[in-house]
Amino acid sequence: MTRWYSEKKKDYYYKEAKKHGYRARSAFKLLQIQQRYRVLRRGGVVIDLGASPGGWSQIAAKYASIVIAVDLQPMQPLDRVIFVKGDITKDETIEKIRQHISEADVVISDASPNISGKYTMDQARSVWLCQNALKIAKEFLKEGGNFVCKIFEGEDYPQFLQEVKKHFRMVKAHAPKASRKQSSEIYIVAKGFKKTW
Ligand SMILES: C[S@@+](CC[C@H](N)C(=O)[O-])C[C@H]1O[C@@H](n2cnc3c(N)ncnc32)[C@H](O)[C@@H]1O
Repeated sequence: MTRWYSEKKKDYYYKEAKKHGYRARSAFKLLQIQQRYRVLRRGGVVIDLGASPGGWSQIAAKYASIVIAVDLQPMQPLDRVIFVKGDITKDETIEKIRQHISEADVVISDASPNISGKYTMDQARSVWLCQNALKIAKEFLKEGGNFVCKIFEGEDYPQFLQEVKKHFRMVKAHAPKASRKQSSEIYIVAKGFKKTW
């Protein structure tokens, strides 16, 4: 895909997000994942990690009875969404989540590190965020729950994918159409959490 075409696509999702009142074009990535894999369930509890400005939470709240949205950055209020300001790599954030819910049906993470431009470093940080998202998923998911996590492809990615496979019955790597073509981001979609008591 040419840069011109890629910019056009970016523009398209940007305009669509405006048209539908979504806070971020990334909302379409979750919509596309949902269309294909049905990860969100009616009436469930969703934890949305790296949630700000709230595009994914907007989509999740269409299905869920409650969404716990977590981010380092503030987020404007949304119906059925409880915002928790915190770092997903810190145990104190797990405790803050626990003040609102004891378990969840779905954990989704679109958390991204601040891009330094040094790909090896950015990729390692992305994996670190995913490891912490998986830790939160293992902490809160009910038996049979679902997990979605954005990761930058690279050295530690296959190992992380194997780790996810240990805990879920179905695991796929998905590149949503709404991602920019030159992007190395991929979404791990995992269904059917195998809870160990
Ligand atoms: C691509 S944005 C998420 C967009 C969001 N899914 C949406 O649809 O609006 C990535 C987010 O990850 C957050 N983030 C990065 N590191 C984090 C961390 N350690 N703890 C919590 N949030 C983090 C950033 O603050 C940023 O808001």
